[in-house]
Amino acid sequence: MITIKPIWSLLSLISIFNEANCQISAENVCKLPVATSNRYSLSVGFTPSDEYTTNIGALKGAMVFVDFEDKPANDTIDSLYNLFMPSASDWYSTASYGRLKIEMQADTSKFYRMPNISTNYKWDRGDFDSDTYIADVVKVLGRNSTFRDSDVLYIVPTRAAEHISFSPTSRFPVILENGVKMKTAVTFGQDVHLKYGFKTLNHETGHTMGLPDLYPSDSKKLARGAWVGGYDIMGLINGTSPDYFAWHKWKLGWLDDDQVDCVSAKGSSKHVITPLEKTGGVKAAAVKLNETKAFVVELRATAAYNASCSIGLVGYVINTAGTNWNSNGAPIEVLDPHMSDRGCSLNRGGRLTGAAVNFAMGEKVMNFPRYGIKVAIDGVKNGNYEITVDWDGNSGAASPGPGVGVIRATDDER
Ligand SMILES: *[C@@H]1O[C@H](CO)[C@@H](O)[C@H](O)[C@H]1NC(C)=O
Ligand SMILES: *[C@@H]1O[C@H](CO)[C@@H](O)[C@H](O)[C@H]1NC(C)=O
Ligand SMILES: *[C@@H]1O[C@H](CO)[C@@H](O)[C@H](O)[C@H]1NC(C)=O
Ligand SMILES: *[C@@H]1O[C@H](CO)[C@@H](O)[C@H](O)[C@H]1NC(C)=O
Ligand SMILES: *[C@@H]1O[C@H](CO)[C@@H](O)[C@H](O)[C@H]1NC(C)=O
Ligand SMILES: *[C@@H]1O[C@H](CO)[C@@H](O)[C@H](O)[C@H]1NC(C)=O
Ligand SMILES: [Zn+2]
Repeated sequence: MITIKPIWSLLSLISIFNEANCQISAENVCKLPVATSNRYSLSVGFTPSDEYTTNIGALKGAMVFVDFEDKPANDTIDSLYNLFMPSASDWYSTASYGRLKIEMQADTSKFYRMPNISTNYKWDRGDFDSDTYIADVVKVLGRNSTFRDSDVLYIVPTRAAEHISFSPTSRFPVILENGVKMKTAVTFGQDVHLKYGFKTLNHETGHTMGLPDLYPSDSKKLARGAWVGGYDIMGLINGTSPDYFAWHKWKLGWLDDDQVDCVSAKGSSKHVITPLEKTGGVKAAAVKLNETKAFVVELRATAAYNASCSIGLVGYVINTAGTNWNSNGAPIEVLDPHMSDRGCSLNRGGRLTGAAVNFAMGEKVMNFPRYGIKVAIDGVKNGNYEITVDWDGNSGAASPGPGVGVIRATDDER
């Protein structure tokens, strides 16, 4: 098992902040640590990064290809390798502003034949046995494997193995028969081909770096995009704005502390928010609501799939006690100030795809009454949004209130 280190050293950071100017840089109090109740789960709270795989520099990957007696390979190793690389590494270079790439060592010598038939790993019966699957890969790699110690062992099945349907991530280390150590393993399935493409790797590797799923578990009977629309690939890999939230990028160290303005006292504050897609500048304003919750606003300048309704300011709430299966709520919830069914893509995130507030469309103010927060857009310069955030000190606990609301600018104010 991954060694769990105590989190208490992190808590000492919280007490240090500058009263004079409620915006923190070096020791940013909005950097909420993982909630105690959530200590052993993946969480949006900040965790010591040494518990997870490399998130700065070069993440070392080892990629192996497998097939089965009942499903012999009907494709080539090159075609599978090229599906992921270099796209997944490039995706990280862009998303991390150059701070993370993947150094992939691939064993392209052959498809390793698994000792069991594909259906015996029970993937499509819901009780998939990825532990046995990974142990079997270790067996077939044997003592002669040329892999080096790595962060992640990526196991890719032939396209023919239709029963290996989806792509879970293990949280256990893997040790090869020759002693080579992998911090963890990702076992790809056919959803890579059928739905999500190379970004499946970026989603699963998000887990190995400590990010939680942002979609409701199936037991909640909600749509995939019910919590975060199409704004983060930890929610929906094929969403309208398939990036990581600024919060995730901050947690991963791709943003510096001074790139997130932290509001920790009630009142009014001004911020200049630069688009998430551009390197440099302040990427988000965060309001620390309490020890487990923060409100964050960030800016999306581009959207995939022509989903223009996902462009603009996006407001969301961080909940360090949330996981996708428990009753403590979503780890991240996007708030739609339009309070309407305005989404522009049903199958790429649904209603919340339209939560963004776009100044160019005449929208001027976002209201989040439950949290006592108002975000006013004062102007847009060079694509950056100049905003004023007002907060009345409410954490959202007391009033269910109307969730949200938006005020439109008159035409001459645009
Ligand atoms: C194949 O899987 C079945 C069902 O899990 C198991 O009973 C059997 O021992 C496995 N055979 C091999 C060779 O691993
Ligand atoms: C491993 O390598 C040794 C030395 O090259 C060779 O004799 C042996 O057959 C190999 N074992 C396997 C399982 O390929
Ligand atoms: C391989 O098998 C899969 C699953 O049956 C199929 O979808 C795919 O088209 C096949 N690929 C080739 C190259 O025949
Ligand atoms: C976006 O819309 C334009 C014009 O309708 C179309 O040509 C283009 O293919 C669309 N792009 C995507 C990614 O859907
Ligand atoms: C995106 O993924 C979701 C969830 O798996 C799926 O329901 C939806 O059809 C996919 N959208 C597209 C356009 O493939
Ligand atoms: C923070 O506020 C939320 C309501 O938004 C509440 O449910 C939660 O219990 C609060 N957390 C703490 C540690 O007080
Ligand atoms: Zn996941």
